[in-house]
Amino acid sequence: MRKTYPAEDLARDQRFRRARMEERLADPRNKAVRERRRSPGKLTPDRRDAADGARQMMHGIFVGEIQALEGAGRTVWDFDDTEAPFALKLDMARQCWDEARHTEISVKLGEWMGTEIGEFSETTFLYEAACNPDPVLRLTGVNRALEGLAIDVFNTMREFGKSSGDPVLSFCEDWMLADEVTHVKMGSDWLRRLTENDPERRARALEFQRVVDKLFSFGGFRGERDENPIQLARKFRRMAGFADSEIDEISVLSDEALEEVSR
Ligand SMILES: [Fe+2]
Ligand SMILES: [Fe+2]
Repeated sequence: MRKTYPAEDLARDQRFRRARMEERLADPRNKAVRERRRSPGKLTPDRRDAADGARQMMHGIFVGEIQALEGAGRTVWDFDDTEAPFALKLDMARQCWDEARHTEISVKLGEWMGTEIGEFSETTFLYEAACNPDPVLRLTGVNRALEGLAIDVFNTMREFGKSSGDPVLSFCEDWMLADEVTHVKMGSDWLRRLTENDPERRARALEFQRVVDKLFSFGGFRGERDENPIQLARKFRRMAGFADSEIDEISVLSDEALEEVSR
C-alpha cells in the first residue's frame, strides 16, 4: 500500500494556481524581490502596498492551512504504531480538525480582505516537509519550524489588524494563533519524547528544522528588527516549548539572512 502521497497529486480545483518556490519569489508583486537590495520592511497600515501585502500574506496562510491539514492527516496514516505512537496520531488527528477550521476561517477572512482563491500562487513546501519518512523530522520541519513561523505570522497579522482598525482580522488571527501554539507545543513535546534515548536522531531532526527555518528567513523576511515584515513572537514561542537559546538562534539566522540581501 502506498505510504507517501506526492505533492503533485494533491486535490485542488481549477481556482488554485500551483507554482514552484523560485517562481513565487519572482512574483513582481513581491516587494522583497522588486527591491532586492533593500529589506522589505515591517507591514504597517500607512504603507502604500499594505493592502496588497496583507492579502498576499492571508492567501499564503490559507494554502498553508490546507497543506498543514493534509500533512497532519498523512502522519496519522503513513506510520504503524511502532513508528509513530498512537497518542501522537491522536494529536495529529486533533490538529487536522484545527487546520480544517483554520482553512474555513482563512477563506472567509480572505473574502473579507478582498482577495479570492487563486489570486496568488500556491507552493507546496509545507506539504513536502510533511512527507519526510521519519515522523520526528516531520514534527521539527512542520510543527516546529513552519508552524513556529505561523505563530510569528499570526501574531504579526493580529497586530496589523489592531493598528489598521480591523477587529475581524485581529480576532480571527488571535484564535488561530492560540491553536498554532498548541501545534508547535505538540512538536516540541513529541520531539523530546521520541528522541529521549536517541541523540543522533534528535540532532538530525533539529538540523532539518534549522534548514527549514533558514529557508524561511530568506531576505530578512522574519526577525526582530523593524525591517523584518514578520516579527519573531518570543512570548508565544516560549509557550510552545521553545527554549530562549532556540529563539536566539532563529533571530541570529534572520539577521544573517537580512545582511545577505543588504550587501
Ligand atoms: Fe493552522
Ligand atoms: Fe497548525
